[in-house]
Amino acid sequence: MTAMPPVELDNETGDVSVPAMSAVGLTLGFGAKTVLNEVNLAFDARAITALLGPTGSGKTTFLRTLNRMNDKVTGYRHSGDVLLGGTSIFGGRDLMELRRSVGMLFQRPNPFPMSIMDNVVAGVRAHKMVPRKQFRSVAEEKLRLVGLWNAVKDRLGDSPFRLSGGQQQLLCTARALAVNPEVLLLDEPTSSLDPNTTDKIEQLISSLAGRLTVIMVTHDLAQAARIADRTAFFFEGRLVEEGPTAHLFSSPQHEETARYVSRGQLTAENRQRFADHEERVSP
Ligand SMILES: Nc1ncnc2c1ncn2[C@@H]1O[C@H](COP(=O)(O)OP(=O)(O)OP(=O)(O)O)[C@@H](O)[C@H]1O
Ligand SMILES: [Mg+2]
Repeated sequence: MTAMPPVELDNETGDVSVPAMSAVGLTLGFGAKTVLNEVNLAFDARAITALLGPTGSGKTTFLRTLNRMNDKVTGYRHSGDVLLGGTSIFGGRDLMELRRSVGMLFQRPNPFPMSIMDNVVAGVRAHKMVPRKQFRSVAEEKLRLVGLWNAVKDRLGDSPFRLSGGQQQLLCTARALAVNPEVLLLDEPTSSLDPNTTDKIEQLISSLAGRLTVIMVTHDLAQAARIADRTAFFFEGRLVEEGPTAHLFSSPQHEETARYVSRGQLTAENRQRFADHEERVSP
């Protein structure tokens, strides 16, 4: 794998305890409908946070607000704030620069109608990040990073729509990573993928943590347990609780959380991880 340049720290001291991003008293909705109520949630820099919750609890709407994807939706309104590196994302910040800093991957891969190569460098080109003659090497580096290079190296000029769904999602991941985001938002990124590709994407996400901040919605409890450092649980538009993943699964503080996480089939590996955690926190 090719190393990516280190992500800038959020403050002058380089203190990792400063959250990369946070929602502060965030209430939002569409017209008269309130979707999220008073959400206060800080995301640790360079950690993976999973967002869990039943369907309709507001996870996607929340994620989309973190890079202002709801701004143009009819009736959208919000109060409170979202901070990126301590600064409001709603202030004078350039929207394009916000989207570069805070990238997003959706449930269904959304390649652009252009060649595979042009897909990977679409953001790099738009942001004029490197001279055109370096596009090919950037594309190769990012395609290698996501493990897609060998499959596409002989057809970089082809349409991405003939790739499999999993390959398209890896391509979109390469495109998202090419602009060196600080935060990556993932909305159920593996829900339409086979176990092998899911595995590949999980490994990739794990390898990115430590370099960038990952916020991932998932319905797959075992997936959250495998890769998330912290987990937040949403229920009916409220953030019920948030904490280290092992803690949230093994000692939920609220009834709704307990009911939700108990439905999951945890693997032996996860149980071991939680058992280790219990040992560490027990006196
Ligand atoms: N554009 C919109 N206009 C009106 N209501 C909306 C809009 N988008 C989302 N909602 C409502 O917001 C609520 C939360 O939806 P959201 O998609 O965020 O849920 P979710 O937690 O992501 O669910 P799922 O797990 O099924 O993806 C739902 O009641 C939904 O109907
Ligand atoms: Mg959703």
